[in-house]
Amino acid sequence: MLPSPEAVAVVAADLVTRTVRRKPDAVIGLATGSSPVALYDELAARVAAGTVSFARCSAFMLDEYVGLGAGHPERYRTVIDRLFATRVDIDATRVHGPDGLATDIAAACADYERLIAEAGGVDVQILGLGSDGHVAFNEPGSSLASRTRIKTLTSQTRADNARFFDGDLDAVPRHCLTQGVGTILEARHLLVLATGAGKADAVHECVEGAVSAMWPASALQLHPTVTIVVDEPAASRLQLRAYYDETYANKPDWQRF
Ligand code: GLP
Repeated sequence: MLPSPEAVAVVAADLVTRTVRRKPDAVIGLATGSSPVALYDELAARVAAGTVSFARCSAFMLDEYVGLGAGHPERYRTVIDRLFATRVDIDATRVHGPDGLATDIAAACADYERLIAEAGGVDVQILGLGSDGHVAFNEPGSSLASRTRIKTLTSQTRADNARFFDGDLDAVPRHCLTQGVGTILEARHLLVLATGAGKADAVHECVEGAVSAMWPASALQLHPTVTIVVDEPAASRLQLRAYYDETYANKPDWQRF
């Protein structure tokens, strides 16, 4: 629980920085959406200051809209280039995403899974939470063992994301390719970012709810190494809030980033 979205970004950047310092050729899992924007700003500032380098890293995006052309500003690959890849020193040819323009969708999804495996798996996976509890684009009802595949977006998610399309709901694609919950759970460390009251239910269900496909993010409870960084409004529905505060305040130094 941190006082502001800016503080969330700094703590998250500390974790990513620590990962890359320990393993300079780390594989970074990249999320889109508004939640990681401040983190990408912070990482870009650190690269400019010379305190971290992604020169030997590779990266895999979580998801992609189906059907948005290469030049579309809201195509996730374009967004990741704009927010992260072109602002840090990563080699753009080592930034990968699912191919939302593939004619053979099943083959493209299988290829993506293979590419992640060949890279040795994801070291740190940055994640946001959908207000409906989705993680990447694994909407409620997704198999908790799912792999990269095509999904149909819920109307809630399309409405949430219409803000990126000038409020035009019809412009928001209906389909996406997304890493599955099972794919995400194979990353070595999951870093979840959530800010604002709109995420309070999703954070509560993710951390404290029953593990259920109704809240796909609740499957993260099955992962041994998850760091969830939230601000006060996003933490407002946590039942064990006092215990988490106490745990955080009393973390031994070796557990801090
Ligand atoms: C989006 C993305 C997710 C993201 C989530 C939350 O639609 N596909 O990867 O984490 O929904 O978005 P935001 O961070 O904008 O609230």
